Amino acid sequence: MAINARHAMKSVGQLYIAVRNANLEDAVSMAKLDLPPGDYVLISIEDTGMGMPPAVLERIFEPFFTTKTAEDGTGLGLSMTFGFVKQSGGYIAAESVEGKGSIFRMFLPRAMAEGSIEATIIEPSVPQPLP
Ligand SMILES: Nc1ncnc2c1ncn2[C@@H]1O[C@H](COP(=O)(O)OP(=O)(O)OP(=O)(O)O)[C@@H](O)[C@H]1O
Ligand SMILES: [Mg+2]
Repeated sequence: MAINARHAMKSVGQLYIAVRNANLEDAVSMAKLDLPPGDYVLISIEDTGMGMPPAVLERIFEPFFTTKTAEDGTGLGLSMTFGFVKQSGGYIAAESVEGKGSIFRMFLPRAMAEGSIEATIIEPSVPQPLP
């Protein structure tokens, strides 16, 4: 999505990436987002690029849909991202205004369990001569 934003902004623009917790409860947002009520992490990616007309916006998650040349895009970026997020119990909502920019809101189910990261130190092995 950041690479898409860079493409959309050509050489000048601003990219905002924000992360926050979001509690989804009201019926309107549930219906719009196709998600069950609950706690989510919302990652939003917003650019001040060229935006999209409605006819493009409604097709962006289709596999192989692209408005770019063959060297610049395959049309698989957003369809893969959408598939991954859906598979993880989330959803992506996209809004755009042509000539002004776009915002992608990615909701992922929030993990309530305590996180723990364990580091394992692996000693580098001494290379052995080949037999
Ligand atoms: N931030 C954005 N601003 C404007 N248009 C966008 C933006 N993100 C996506 N699009 C539009 O959606 C289309 C599909 O995006 P997607 O990432 O799936 O494919 P792609 O960028 O064309 O190719 P790639 O497979 O290399 O990602 C793009 O071709 C572009 O028209
Ligand atoms: Mg892309």
